[in-house]
This record gives sequence, structure tokens and C-alpha cells, in this order.
Amino acid sequence: MRLDVPVISDLGDLAGKTVVLRVDFNVPLKGAEISDDTRIRGALPTIKRLHEGGAKLVIMSHLGRPKGRTPEASLLPVAERLATLLETEVVFNHDTVGDEVVAWVKEQAPNAVLMVENLRYDPREQGSDAEFARQLSELGDVFVNDAFGCMHRPDASIAGIPNHLPSAAGLLVQAEVEALGTLITRPERPFGAILGGAKVSDKIGVIEALAKKVDHLFIGGAMAYTFLAAQGVAVGKSRVEADKLDLARKLIADLAEKGVALHLPVDHVVASEFAETSAPSLVTEIPADKMGLDIGPATVRAWSETMSKCKTLFWNGPAGVFEWDAFAGGTRGIAEALAASGAFTVVGGGDSAAAIAKFGLADKVNHVSTGGGASLELMEQGDLVGLQALRKKS
Ligand code: 3PG
Repeated sequence: MRLDVPVISDLGDLAGKTVVLRVDFNVPLKGAEISDDTRIRGALPTIKRLHEGGAKLVIMSHLGRPKGRTPEASLLPVAERLATLLETEVVFNHDTVGDEVVAWVKEQAPNAVLMVENLRYDPREQGSDAEFARQLSELGDVFVNDAFGCMHRPDASIAGIPNHLPSAAGLLVQAEVEALGTLITRPERPFGAILGGAKVSDKIGVIEALAKKVDHLFIGGAMAYTFLAAQGVAVGKSRVEADKLDLARKLIADLAEKGVALHLPVDHVVASEFAETSAPSLVTEIPADKMGLDIGPATVRAWSETMSKCKTLFWNGPAGVFEWDAFAGGTRGIAEALAASGAFTVVGGGDSAAAIAKFGLADKVNHVSTGGGASLELMEQGDLVGLQALRKKS
């Protein structure tokens, strides 16, 4: 895929200019602690490049889905982590827009790194409000969007600011679009996609899109039980989306028609209850009183063998409940097969990104996306509203 949006160098010399920088610092928190700062690290190359180029930065992001100004959604801890990672002071403002914020930005040193409060404290952000976008744009001279994880949202800061300022994509957005674009437009074959996660309904669009592109589709996670049940396989008490059985049958037929090899689990780690403490057992046929919580080792072996013959691999969604050690083996096996494959490997954000990091294999794949929903939507639609906004105004 051609990025075909303006990039930072298109904005010219930024020394002495103020850059409004949208990032996706929607990081997971445990209480006030940031449990994974991958997204903050992901934006560092852009932040450093702009800062070292002599610009003043006004960094903005959303965090969570707060209803009003809830203190636990404040970006202050994120600003503090950014300052530690950058080894530079980050000056924080508890407001987001308005005359006082504009004056505050002007008062700061020419090369300052500034950050404003959670954009979603203001409902106008997700309301795609044009006036809110205009007010955000008043904070600087140019706009850089490096919020890949949020590029599928038509929010004011994503779709609206480019209406008012010269705009460009940041380095993270560039890297993400290049890696995911390679899968969409010029994958080396054979191309395999491994999908997991809980719900078929979340993945319908991506399965339909992948059916046109891949040679092998591996389906694990709870989603697999709906596909197995659709084929008449007994799945015991496993989670099945009863209203998606017909859809699963249709998807199976579509894949067969397009010549895509569908790989479903052939063995399972099951338990009596959905609980971390529930005793695991390994089966090839799921008994009526058990539920599948992970793919088994025979499945991992068979899938790994096929994956090792692929030249391109995309993974989205865990194969089992990897957060619980007894049911993590399948997801670990997929991560290891990906790392050992020698293929061009891309992990599509969300839980699979957390899983590959947990198993210490993130640096053994070509690209780990910082965007879960955004990476799937880019795979499905071939474009994102945030990219369109940059393109329209270029
Ligand atoms: C994400 O975490 O996927 C992005 O930050 C977007 O967040 P949202 O789903 O709350 O819009």
C-alpha cells in the first residue's frame, strides 16, 4: 500500500514552530500504574524527531472511555512516564482547549514538550465536533498525527484538525501502514493468517477480507468452537455463538470456494469451569461437561508445520486464555511458531501484542502493531478515516 499521505518532512523546517501532535497513549492501567507502555514507546521516534528538530510540541491523546472528568482517566501519569522515557521535562496542563491553554502554550520555552489532558474529558472529541477540532488546532502551527491505534475513529482530533492546519502522518503511522500494507497489497505466498479471540462477530469483516488474500486460515480461541459446532463437531460447554452458526457455515463455504485451507483445532485443553483454578485436561473430543479453553499440542504441532512453509504470516487474537498459565500453551506455541517461521510476520495489536510481549518474543517478529481495532480495520477496508483526513487536506 502506498501511504500517499504527507509525512513530517513535507511540513518543512519545524524549528521554532509549534506542532500539535496527536498520539494514542491509551495505555492499560492497573490502578494508577501503567502496566504496558508500548504505545508511549511507539511514539518516541516521532516525538524525538520533532523535539530535536527544534519544534515546540503540544501532545494530545485520549485515555479510556471516561464519562466526564473521572480522575482515574487523567493523562498525568502518562505524561510522567513520557518524561522518564524521553529524559526531558514534560509540562502538563489539566485543560485541553481554550484561550488560557493557547496563552499557556505561547508562554512556554520554544523547544518545550507540553501535554494536555485527556481529549475524551470533552464529549465533543468523540462527537467529531468541528468547533472542538478548530479549538485544538489553535494550539499550534502544524499538525502531526501519530495515533495509529486511533486512526479508525472519526474523532475531532483525528478527522477534524487537518481541516485547519498543514498536516502529516508521524513515523509510527508510517511504519504501521507500511507493514500492514505489505500484507494487503504484496504478500509473499504462501500467506497464512492466524485468528483467535472470543467472538466470531468481532472478526467477520477481517475473515471476509482475508478470504480473498490468504492461502491458509488458522482459527483458534473461543471463536473456533462456533466454527467446529457449525461443522457438527461436539464442543461440550464451550462458548458458542448460537446466532452465528449459519454465518460460520457461510464463511467456511466461502473459504472453500476461494481455495483457502481452513485449519481448526484438532485437540483441546478443557476444564469444567471458566476459572483459572479449574483443572485442565487434554482431549481430542470435548466431553459434554467440559469447555475448551485452549488449543492442544497436536494442533500447535500441525499449525507450526504449515506456518513454517508460509512466507507471510499475520496473527490477531490469542488461541486460548493465555492470561492463565494452564491455558497459555497454545498461544505460546503460536507465538513461537511465528518467531521461528522465517516469514514476514505481523502481529495485529491488542491481546496478541500483549501475548507476544509476555512470551518475550516481540523482537522476533517483523512488526507488532500498536493498534488492535485500527489494524483490523486497515486489513478489512484498506484505509482509515485518519489517513483520509490527512490525504484530503494535503
Ligand atoms: C484502542 O485502544 O484500540 C484505541 O486507543 C482506540 O480506543 P477506543 O476503542 O476506545 O476508541
